[in-house]
Amino acid sequence: MKRFIVIDETVNDLYGSQVAAYFKARGVKYKILHLPTTEENKSMTLVTSILEEVHKFGIDRRTEPIIAIGGGVCLDIAGLAASLYRRRTPYIRVPTTLLAYIDASVGAKTGVNFANCKNKLGSYIPPVATFLDRTFLCTLPRRHISNGMAEMLKMALMKHKGLFELLQKEGRSLLDSRFQLRIPENVHTDAASVSTRLAIETMLEELAPNLWEDDLDRLVDFGHIISPELEMKILPELLHGEAVNIDMAFMVYVAHERGFLTEEEKRLIIVCMQSLELPVWHSDCTLDLVQRSLTERLKHSGGLLRMPLPIALGKARIFNDIEDSIVCQAFKKWCDEHCETTMKPQ
Ligand SMILES: NC(=O)c1ccc[n+]([C@@H]2O[C@H](COP(=O)([O-])OP(=O)(O)OC[C@H]3O[C@@H](n4cnc5c(N)ncnc54)[C@H](O)[C@@H]3O)[C@@H](O)[C@H]2O)c1
Ligand SMILES: [Zn+2]
Repeated sequence: MKRFIVIDETVNDLYGSQVAAYFKARGVKYKILHLPTTEENKSMTLVTSILEEVHKFGIDRRTEPIIAIGGGVCLDIAGLAASLYRRRTPYIRVPTTLLAYIDASVGAKTGVNFANCKNKLGSYIPPVATFLDRTFLCTLPRRHISNGMAEMLKMALMKHKGLFELLQKEGRSLLDSRFQLRIPENVHTDAASVSTRLAIETMLEELAPNLWEDDLDRLVDFGHIISPELEMKILPELLHGEAVNIDMAFMVYVAHERGFLTEEEKRLIIVCMQSLELPVWHSDCTLDLVQRSLTERLKHSGGLLRMPLPIALGKARIFNDIEDSIVCQAFKKWCDEHCETTMKPQ
């Protein structure tokens, strides 16, 4: 039996010897390829390096899946390599960041950045399995825990009021405990288990019936309308979830301006974001960038804007008729309320 493992360099420093010991103990012939899978390196170059090594090592395409261990970047790059090798080689995802645990773990998408655009090259190939183990999160920097909580908050705002309330109440302590169990017996009821399960379940409800994204009305796109451009513009200053959160915060102002959210609901959402230590505004997110992103989205979504917006806490709908004047007014209020008080992420 042979296994080819692609692992993020930092994760390899922390857990590489345990991974090697696991395969050694089972008499598996293995190759661990550790790579600097960072957002700046998320390109075809790394995909090609993986493919060259896979080819040298030699695997049986039917019975020897490639294993990817790392954050979303590593899973996306290794997934794309697997989808290309002999047209499709099965692969397994082992997410080691919170963001990858609740988001990249369950999706079908692989990809790399190209021509200065986020995930411009990629494929829709779901992994054959995803192994979830929250103990990896023990070593994750606090900022990256917040980062993952942004995607969790996205699902809460779109689909699940209970998850939003849980994040309001327990968000800060989840951040402090890095989603580890404090009372081991409470494995089914503690906030870390419940919040991650709800985030994954709500994500799956949206992704499973629309695996190839034929339906363009996607609630999971909330926070992903203006963030891709913002993220690429100021890499590596902003993490993915931080850019998503800035986008969501702005959209909350749009939803409020259109009369979907009350002032109090808007305030509660922003307070929750701040308690999770997520940025709610950024000086580089200009009105010009917002309008450009919306125009770009219009081009790629069949002539309709398809904007997911919250209409209450934990409820959302897709709108095609948000006028430019609403966007401008929301932008002005958003800046007035946050530009002086907001600190850039550390
Ligand atoms: N395919 C999908 O469905 C999907 C979904 C969401 C996001 N993504 C992609 O995921 C990427 C973001 O993922 P990310 O936030 O995981 O970033 P990442 O992969 O860059 O990881 C973040 C950092 O954490 C380090 N790290 C990883 N695990 C660690 C651990 N257990 N302990 C200590 N350090 C650790 C990594 O070395 C890296 O420096 C983006 O490129 C985004 O496009 C893909
Ligand atoms: Zn995302």
